[in-house]
Amino acid sequence: MRVGIATDHGGFELKQELIAQLRSAGHEIVDFGADSLTPDDDYPDYVTPLARAVAAGQVERGVAICGSGVGASVCANKVPGVRAALIHDHFSARQGVEDDHMNVLCMGGRTVGMAVAWDLVQTFLGAGFSQAERHLRRLGKVMSLEAGTR
Ligand code: RB5
Repeated sequence: MRVGIATDHGGFELKQELIAQLRSAGHEIVDFGADSLTPDDDYPDYVTPLARAVAAGQVERGVAICGSGVGASVCANKVPGVRAALIHDHFSARQGVEDDHMNVLCMGGRTVGMAVAWDLVQTFLGAGFSQAERHLRRLGKVMSLEAGTR
């Protein structure tokens, strides 16, 4: 899968480890930065281009990291077409895609270690949207909200 990834200083080491693992697993990775550990950098500078690439279909899924994952999720969800969520558990990494069509996984570089992060990423990438009528109905209501018609 073609996967985009981005982080600020809060998840820099985690991003580097995830990129190596993802490439080893055969994924094509687009790295939206940060390119180096810069303690004063700002997550919107990296998460915004990632989110736009997901919305435009330039990457199939996105992984957005900051210290807590909160800023990354808030930022990514401002881009129309993005369905981002801060995830800490295996169940939500899968169900967030199956039920809610999540296309950006957000994590905290200061709240999850590599083993948990790798499980969350693998689970996220391995899941697909269910296309169930009730899930499409709920997603339609979310899309109406985004379009300003609800
Ligand atoms: C940066 O220190 C930190 O605020 C940021 O990485 C993120 O956790 C924000 O939500």
